[in-house]
Amino acid sequence: MISTPIDTDRLPDDGHATDVEIARIVHNPPALVNYWASQATQLRSDMLSSKACSAAMVNERTCGVASVGPKLPREKYPGAIPTLNGRGFMLKSLDPYSSAFVDYAGSTDAPVLDMGCAYGVATLAALAKGASVCACDMDAGHLAILEDCVPGEQRPRLTTQIGMLPDVDFQAHSFGAILASRVLHFLTGDDVERAMKKMAAWLKPGGQMFLIADTPYMRTWSASVPAYEKRKREGHKWPGFLPDFSKYVPDGTDPTSHPEFLNPMDPDILARLCNEVGLNVIRTGFMGLQRGGSPVQGNEHAGCEAFKAIA
Ligand SMILES: C[S@@+](CC[C@H](N)C(=O)[O-])C[C@H]1O[C@@H](n2cnc3c(N)ncnc32)[C@H](O)[C@@H]1O
Repeated sequence: MISTPIDTDRLPDDGHATDVEIARIVHNPPALVNYWASQATQLRSDMLSSKACSAAMVNERTCGVASVGPKLPREKYPGAIPTLNGRGFMLKSLDPYSSAFVDYAGSTDAPVLDMGCAYGVATLAALAKGASVCACDMDAGHLAILEDCVPGEQRPRLTTQIGMLPDVDFQAHSFGAILASRVLHFLTGDDVERAMKKMAAWLKPGGQMFLIADTPYMRTWSASVPAYEKRKREGHKWPGFLPDFSKYVPDGTDPTSHPEFLNPMDPDILARLCNEVGLNVIRTGFMGLQRGGSPVQGNEHAGCEAFKAIA
């Protein structure tokens, strides 16, 4: 184990782990697994069977990894667990839109999709509410850790899928709800649009979409805010796009371990994306970054909730 002390004041609040932090990915503190497992108390065993999600899978990989594989990394700071692939943090606190997804997931008979799930904070909460969840992420290590964290009695309701937007595929009308929390901003505009078309098709009629994205107001890249606001006034389609994300990674970080670009979004963009694929927006807005349970500023994240009309 590397025990280099971390100067937490220097850490970015966007979730892009420094190399030192990645090097500190070590075995999971049991207390955190217990914390997550405690969310299983509302299990409703009468809900969906394990095959509910499998019809939608391509290269399906069911849960069951119990004793091997990577362990949950330590929190980088309270409430934020670094990803294994330099794609930010998984936040342990559910924001209002993720919470709405979890509630919805627990109330629908249809399987739901957690896209870009990381270690599955929303998946675990939805499973605990009795939902049948397909957890999808580009990183197999994240899914292995998630599988390890799921209480045994809930495992039949979890299916995992290694896949990357916009290329991953599921069958049309597979899911009662889809959560894409803090994943779309890793895509170019064209790929976001491809991903949205696919995700809208995967929703069942009457189903709901929950989107969350990092905004240009995240402290790490907030130097770009004036340019974003100018491009926004000028009507640019992707006013927050950062083609040179390496300029914003913290000192001491290897830029090659992070995405080359970032596409921070705002509530207008998320609403437009939903409208463009025929979804009906219920609500959209800015949110604060949930750091240790308390919002930092109030506009670091954008959320949007929409539904697919029954034809
Ligand atoms: C910032 S984390 C968000 C994790 C979690 N959804 C949350 O809101 O806390 C982004 C996650 O999305 C995954 N991801 C990034 N780009 C992706 C893509 N194009 N397709 C699928 N997953 C992706 C990363 O591997 C990572 O687990």
